[in-house]
Amino acid sequence: MTEKPAPTQYPVHELIRSRWSPRAYADRPVETDKLLSLLEAARWAPSSFNHQPWRFIIATKENPTEYNRLLSTLVEFNQGWAKNAPVLILAVAKLHFDDGKLNRHAFHDVGLALENLIIQATALGLSAHQIAGFQADQARKEYGIPSEYEPSTVITIGYVGDPQSLADGLRERELAPRIRKPLTEIVFAQKWENVSPILADSV
Ligand SMILES: Cc1cc2nc3c(=O)[nH]c(=O)nc-3n(C[C@H](O)[C@H](O)[C@H](O)COP(=O)(O)O)c2cc1C
Repeated sequence: MTEKPAPTQYPVHELIRSRWSPRAYADRPVETDKLLSLLEAARWAPSSFNHQPWRFIIATKENPTEYNRLLSTLVEFNQGWAKNAPVLILAVAKLHFDDGKLNRHAFHDVGLALENLIIQATALGLSAHQIAGFQADQARKEYGIPSEYEPSTVITIGYVGDPQSLADGLRERELAPRIRKPLTEIVFAQKWENVSPILADSV
């Protein structure tokens, strides 16, 4: 099994360190009780005003018609590898509160729910890979998603597979090191782009 633990600057929880986004999936279904745990983890994410603006449409390979319906919304590049994932989930954001006011944090909260789902997946030995490259309009039509909801992201879920199963190009990316901006580029204090003194030792 490919492992790509994050080379962190400071210690983090093992689940955060070991999570990564594979494109190679094993030909093995995900147990329904595990899927339910993932969705339960998503449900218990925090959200602005506890509005819980997340909705999910799920499709598994056990139902090829429904699986292909969701797969067909992905752009060609993503279909190329995502077609091996046993589970696809479309995450949808509810954009307004019940009083009609815009929820500026709807996508933020959907992201929180997805990270809960992904960390739970990691804890259960599963992996997930999020996808922005899909046709939101097509998804809206396929599922009759009302205009006050916005398709956000598709997530592939499954057990990690053999990188050798991937096409040229993707295989190399699967094995490439994981990289991040250093904390000194993203954590400021006092004014914009002024590196926080708590990072003094990192500068
Ligand atoms: C919202 C979102 C959209 C993404 N869209 C795509 C995508 O369309 N295709 C793809 O191959 N990877 C996609 N990714 C995966 C990222 O490229 C990946 O998370 C990033 O390179 C960091 O790698 P890691 O998750 O293994 O740490 C997406 C990730 C996120 C969070």
